Amino acid sequence: MTSLLHRLTQIVGDAFSAEDLPAALGAVSVSDRPDLAQFQCNGAMAAAKIAKKAPRQIAENIVARLQSQDIFSDITIAGPGFINLKLSDAVLNDYANAIRSDERCGVGAIGDQTIVIDFGGPNLAKPMHVGHLRSTIIGDCLQRVSRFLGHATISDVHMGDWGKPIGMLITELELTQPDLPYFDAAVTDGYPSESPVTMDDLAQMYPKAAADCKADSARDETARHATAALQDGRPGYRALWQHFLNVSKEGMAREFASLDVHFDLWKGEADVDPLIAGMVTDMAAKGVVEQDQGAGIIRVGEEGDKTEIPPLILVKSDGAATYATTDLATILDRVTEHNPDVILYVVDQRQHLHFAQVFRAAKKAGINRNAVLEHIGFGTMNGADGKPFKTRAGGVMKLHDLITMMREKALERLKEAGLADSYGEEETLEIADQVGIAALKFADLSNHRMSDYVFDLDRFMSFEGKTGPYLQYAAVRIQSILRKAEEADARHQDKPIAIESDAERDLVLTLAHFPDAVEGAFDKRAPNVLCEHVYTLAQKFSRFYTEHHILSESDESLRGSRLALCEATLAQITKSLELLGIQVPKRM
Ligand code: ARG
Repeated sequence: MTSLLHRLTQIVGDAFSAEDLPAALGAVSVSDRPDLAQFQCNGAMAAAKIAKKAPRQIAENIVARLQSQDIFSDITIAGPGFINLKLSDAVLNDYANAIRSDERCGVGAIGDQTIVIDFGGPNLAKPMHVGHLRSTIIGDCLQRVSRFLGHATISDVHMGDWGKPIGMLITELELTQPDLPYFDAAVTDGYPSESPVTMDDLAQMYPKAAADCKADSARDETARHATAALQDGRPGYRALWQHFLNVSKEGMAREFASLDVHFDLWKGEADVDPLIAGMVTDMAAKGVVEQDQGAGIIRVGEEGDKTEIPPLILVKSDGAATYATTDLATILDRVTEHNPDVILYVVDQRQHLHFAQVFRAAKKAGINRNAVLEHIGFGTMNGADGKPFKTRAGGVMKLHDLITMMREKALERLKEAGLADSYGEEETLEIADQVGIAALKFADLSNHRMSDYVFDLDRFMSFEGKTGPYLQYAAVRIQSILRKAEEADARHQDKPIAIESDAERDLVLTLAHFPDAVEGAFDKRAPNVLCEHVYTLAQKFSRFYTEHHILSESDESLRGSRLALCEATLAQITKSLELLGIQVPKRM
């Protein structure tokens, strides 16, 4: 299906063309004065400059052409030449009925690109923390929207598993258990299959190792050496690395499963290690690498840079690869494997400089082929003090603890609201899970990704206002209306939607904006556009519900039309929430 806006833009564009003006000036948008019009076109102002005529004159000519179309119920010109449009109810009814019977809720599968999305980015041996949360939630929404639009979409978790933290952990373990076979240079295979450490061990070892390395430069040097030796292929270190990876992955998988986030690829920095040597040689042959105090660097500063972009370090003086090196090799890998049109990196905005360096170096060396490289940055989730969110004790909040907290709070809120209290324990816990995750995800996604926001559990979890639980509850209520209709055999399947009131018209117009919201969210890489839509839809529905009888309507056609509106609204709220990664409980 084509969206109403696309269709209107086509019609108004044709009118501009017929006036020998660029069709693009016929772009139609949703009116910013819904009291005056449903849609508007502001093209006459720009056309006036081209045609050297008064904008109002142009608007009048366009309107004269549009008047011949019977799809409009009202066309007016406002101010200097804004064209205001209202569609006839017949057109809106047709559209509503088409959406209602479309399982894609009116959204066309128009995507024809191959898109790789890099998000999540958990690090080996470190428990995932709230910093990974935003990447995961935003990245997952973009993957869902991209896939829904029909783009060939490949998601990759891109684990951080190849840098100095691993060297720190290897040496930390060596200090406490020096007799393990991994540290004996003479032993090169036959290592135990059981990991010498658990995830909890790693989580304790890492902060200690990091602090010791910071305090003691000799200790730091051993970690650096171990990292270089690992990357160079020392068998005992590789075997240990594999153990670290296995235990870490279990923890990561648990968190992603609770968030209902799934990846096509579980690759990491280490996966591209075999590509690094060849890539470095190629880059050197292309003349983009310079030697600088024993290190190999790529200069990426450009004339006109407002702030200096320092060179990218491709090979450290000890031969080790950097975070940037693995990111470059990963581009090479993705381009070879998938030939993508776009690679999206959903990563904290504070890594902006890193991506600027990597993208420039990739282009300089020509390794990204046709792929557009985009850093999709985001701000931080803050505590009440305005600083990145911490535990009460001031430590880093583990993602697992945060998710547990959301579940518990959801259970508490459900109890307070008298919801989900008469079902079995299993179902109640499942609902609490869904509500807790919805609260977290919606609170995050409803802010523009670049803005920081404050973690406010009570507000996120409220059943009123712009929240995940409010929207879930709205959907559950409609589900229950439809269930009751079915029980009462209040047939509506064969009744068309026929607008009779302002509230119904408003609801239909909102339903018709869904394709624009989905496309807008994708084009701007901005899930908040979708949040805005689903919240508006729930509000319009709520007005419709307050102002009209539905099940108690005695006129069969009216009742059928209204039930059909309920059905179309439910389908769209459910689909919107699904695209946001939020599930709707069967009941509450
Ligand atoms: N592991 C990184 C971190 O925790 C994030 C990885 C982001 N993706 C990338 N291709 N660099 O900061």
